[in-house]
Amino acid sequence: MLLDIKDIHVYYDKSYILRGVSLKIEKGEIGCLFGRNGAGKTTTLKTIMGLVNPRQGEIFYDGKDITGLRPYQRARGGIGFIPQDKLLFKKMTVYENLLTGSKGQNHGQTWDMVLELFPDLREKLSRKAGSLSGGQQQMLAIARALLINPDLLILDEPSIGLMPIMISSLAEVITKLNGVGITVLLVEEKIPFALRLAHRIYVMDVGKIVYQGMAGSIDENELLSHYLGVNQR
Ligand SMILES: Nc1ncnc2c1ncn2[C@@H]1O[C@H](COP(=O)(O)OP(=O)(O)OP(=O)(O)O)[C@@H](O)[C@H]1O
Ligand SMILES: [Mg+2]
Repeated sequence: MLLDIKDIHVYYDKSYILRGVSLKIEKGEIGCLFGRNGAGKTTTLKTIMGLVNPRQGEIFYDGKDITGLRPYQRARGGIGFIPQDKLLFKKMTVYENLLTGSKGQNHGQTWDMVLELFPDLREKLSRKAGSLSGGQQQMLAIARALLINPDLLILDEPSIGLMPIMISSLAEVITKLNGVGITVLLVEEKIPFALRLAHRIYVMDVGKIVYQGMAGSIDENELLSHYLGVNQR
């Protein structure tokens, strides 16, 4: 397993949020985590990144216990995270935003690979990030995360607010990245989009995993019944 989360319990102050979450992703897989608003998906991702610390439980990455590591150590270890709000520097150019992702390890090969994957960005390197469309900003956030050379890429609701055509490009990008060996953990609300990509599926509700399975063998009705209130566009 590349990622092995073992029974994590997370609190925000006195609120008990993650109530024993266990989740695994095998090397080379695309894993997808579903759940209603407020279920604890983002908190799970933040805990993997070390932005939130569990009160109990462990996180193993590539066989090593990373529970006590700082977020930057996890990033250096090969975990790339694209948060829900993307955290781009809107007043800086596309190029400058990319530089913030590659600081200190400017391997030409990765830059070439990333710009080849996102030809749109190559043409817009001198544009301000804030002037890009929502879809292009999402691509920029992914491109920046790729410049750390991640083995695991974590995306929090990347399709949100995107036009259907951009959602297709996003699916294509994720498939390509997975094709070159990058393991992916995706939080998504759009079931058809996610099911097209995912190998392994988890559904969480109120801080617990309530359903899990491999994409080929899950029962879609059962998946839906564990995932009510979904907004399927
Ligand atoms: N910084 C915080 N302080 C206190 N409570 C928080 C904080 N962040 C999140 N929460 C609460 O923790 C719970 C889980 O939130 P989380 O953001 O992980 O859910 P989510 O599944 O990502 O939801 P969404 O689909 O809306 O993104 C929610 O009840 C939320 O209100
Ligand atoms: Mg969230």
